Amino acid sequence: MRIEIPREFERFGPIMFYDVQKVYELDSGLIYKKNETKPEEQSVIKRISYESLQEIQEQMAIIVPVRNEKIKLIEGVLSGIPHHCQIIIVSNSSREEVDRFKIEKNALEHVGAFMKKNLLIVHQKDPALGKALASAGYDYILDEDGIVKNGKCEGMILSTFLAHLCGKKYIGFIDSDNYFPGAVHEYVQEYSAGLYNSKSDYSMVRIAWHSKPKIVESNLFFAKRGRASEHTNKFLNQLVSHYTGYGTEILKTGNAGEHAMSMELAKNLDFSSGYSIEPYHFISMFERFAAIHDNPLPEILKQGIEVYQIESRNPHLHEVKGDEHVKDMSKAALEVIYRSPLAPESLKKEILEDLFFRNIIESKEEMKKEVVYYPAIVNCDLKKLQKELQNQPYGDQLTLDLSKYKPSKKEGLKRDQLKGKPVPEEKNYLEAK
Ligand code: GDD
Repeated sequence: MRIEIPREFERFGPIMFYDVQKVYELDSGLIYKKNETKPEEQSVIKRISYESLQEIQEQMAIIVPVRNEKIKLIEGVLSGIPHHCQIIIVSNSSREEVDRFKIEKNALEHVGAFMKKNLLIVHQKDPALGKALASAGYDYILDEDGIVKNGKCEGMILSTFLAHLCGKKYIGFIDSDNYFPGAVHEYVQEYSAGLYNSKSDYSMVRIAWHSKPKIVESNLFFAKRGRASEHTNKFLNQLVSHYTGYGTEILKTGNAGEHAMSMELAKNLDFSSGYSIEPYHFISMFERFAAIHDNPLPEILKQGIEVYQIESRNPHLHEVKGDEHVKDMSKAALEVIYRSPLAPESLKKEILEDLFFRNIIESKEEMKKEVVYYPAIVNCDLKKLQKELQNQPYGDQLTLDLSKYKPSKKEGLKRDQLKGKPVPEEKNYLEAK
C-alpha cells in the first residue's frame, strides 16, 4: 500500500488524533529487494509492503457481527477478508421459528472449508457464553436469564473477549451487510497499514469512506458523508475544542463502524450500548485517558494513544435500513456526548437544539435516557472465561497463554468516578496543568 503520512494532527492529553490519510496505491508490491533503490526516507508518501501488512494480519482477528443478513451478502464479506486474519462471526440471527443461525452456520462453515479457514462462529445468545461471562465477572451485558442482550455493541464486547482469548494482538470490525467484497478487503488492508505505522501499543484505525453511493433522480450520486456522521463529528470536535482552546475539525470518523484497534487499547475502553459504541470510543478515551482529571494508566501517558483515520477508495454500499434507523443512530451518538461528565453546559444545550430541530427529540430541554454503559473488559478474569469455554466446539481456537496471567488489579478510572467532578471551565487546560 502507498499511503500519505498524516498532514495534520491534534493532541488531546496523551491522545494523538491524525487527520485523514489518503491512499495512493492499494497494492505497492512486495518488500524491497536487496538491489532495489529505496526512496527517500523522509518522503511524505509511505510504502508498506505486502509482507508488512500480512505480518499484522497474522495477529489480527476480524469480527463480523451478523443479525439476519442474507447469506450471500455475508459470504461476499468473508471472501474479502485477507486470508491470514482469524475470522470471528458473532451472530444474533433469529432461532425461532426458522433457525436462521443454524442455516447461516452450516453455509458459512461450508464456505470456510473452501477458503481453507477455520471460522469461529458463535451465537450471541448461546447460554454457554453467558455463563462463561458471568463466571469471569462480566455480567453487565447479560439479561435476567443470564443470556447476552441484543445489540451490535453487546456482540462486539463478546467478540472482543473471544479475539483476546484467540491470542490476537489486533481486532478489527467489518459489518456483514457490505455489498462490495473489494471494499471489505481494502478496509482490512487499511487497518493493517495504520496499525503497522503506529509506534504505540495503544492504537486505533478508523475508516473514512470515500463515498456512499445513492440513487438521486435516476443517477448514481456519490455522497461524501453519512447523514449521522456530520452531526456526530461536529460535536465531538467541539468537545475537543472546549479543552484545547482551539477550534478543530480533526475528527471525521465519529460513527465509523469500520475500525480496528490494538488489543491493549480495546480492552481498556468502556462501551456504550447499541449504535453509540463507535462515537463512545472517543468519549471513553477522553474520559479515561485525556488526563483531564486523572490518568490511571501510566503506560498510556508514556506511550500515548494514536488514532489514525484513513480514507478508503472503494465506495461503501450496504443495506439501507431507512430514515428512522439513521435518526436512532444519530440520537444514540449525540446522547453519549451529551451525557459525558466532560461535556460543558453550552455544548449540551447545542446538542439538544440540534436533535430538536431535526425532529429526533420532542423537547429542547431534555432527552430520554436510552444508552446503557458497560465497563472495559480489562478487569475480568480471563482464566475463568477460557476454562468455561474450552469444551465448546471452538475451544481449541482459544489458545491465549494464560499460564502467567493474574486478573488485572489496575482499575481504570470508572465513569462513575467522573460524575460530580466539575467540568474544567478553563480553556487550554493542557497548558494550565
Ligand atoms: N451480533 C450482532 N448482534 N450483530 C448485529 C446486531 C446484534 O444485535 N444488530 C446488528 N448487527 C449487525 C448487522 O447485521 C450488520 O452487519 C452490522 O451489525 C451493522 O448493523 P446495521 O443495523 O446494518 O447498521 P448500519 O449499517 O445502519 O450502521 C453501521 O454503520 C454506522 C456508520 O454509518 C454500523 O456499523 C454502525 O455501528 C455505524 O455507526
